[in-house]
Amino acid sequence: MFLETYETHNAVIDKKLKDKVVVVIDTLRATSVITTALVNGAREVIPVSEIEDAIEMSNRLEKGSFLLGGERNAVKIDGFDLSNSPLEYMSDVVKGKTIIITTTNGTRALKKASSSDDVVVGCLLNVSAVADYIYSQNKDTLIICAGTEGKFSIDDVITAGAIINRLRSKTSFESDDLSKACYFLYKSFENNIMDIMKYGYHLNRIEKLGFHDDIKFCTTIDMFSVVPKYRDGVVKLI
Ligand code: MLT
Repeated sequence: MFLETYETHNAVIDKKLKDKVVVVIDTLRATSVITTALVNGAREVIPVSEIEDAIEMSNRLEKGSFLLGGERNAVKIDGFDLSNSPLEYMSDVVKGKTIIITTTNGTRALKKASSSDDVVVGCLLNVSAVADYIYSQNKDTLIICAGTEGKFSIDDVITAGAIINRLRSKTSFESDDLSKACYFLYKSFENNIMDIMKYGYHLNRIEKLGFHDDIKFCTTIDMFSVVPKYRDGVVKLI
């Protein structure tokens, strides 16, 4: 097995995805939101790239069966039901619903990965479950960090490192330099990941916008033991 990590989805090309397990990470906050919504009983999550696509898709669904969620510039989109805060995706709100979600980086990274038929959603909330899944598949694996505004984001690479750390405890494998860098960075801060995450640009941006509780929630390791899988345009729990 060979493991490769991409710091953003920009450099990912379709042919790289063929026959691989692909893990898409946007810890702050899109993949944490998707995971939380599914744990809390959402029927499915449909990631879309553009606001217009989300609205157009919602027009094709039965009224009351769906919720529109997501963000632009980290805040709720006008006319949408939910923002990109995982704390809004609780069971009394999302149970049984289809969630159509569009975010700046995370949903675009997922769309980019969609030519693989083995795409899973990773975040700090489910690192061990994702590592177990990679191990069970025993295939070459690509970790795609969503990043922020086209750039490397500390929260995503720490999450990649946490997954790699758990995978290393199960098996040995070859990996590229970025995977090793993610692992060693995570290892240096595993006792308190906030000691490094607090320097992240995106974390500070959403902290200033008042999303402190979201950060606390999204940086909780292994709150859930689930693997959301993205197939045929839809994310569902395995
Ligand atoms: C994104 O997909 O760009 C992020 O989840 C942004 C955010 O934290 O709202």
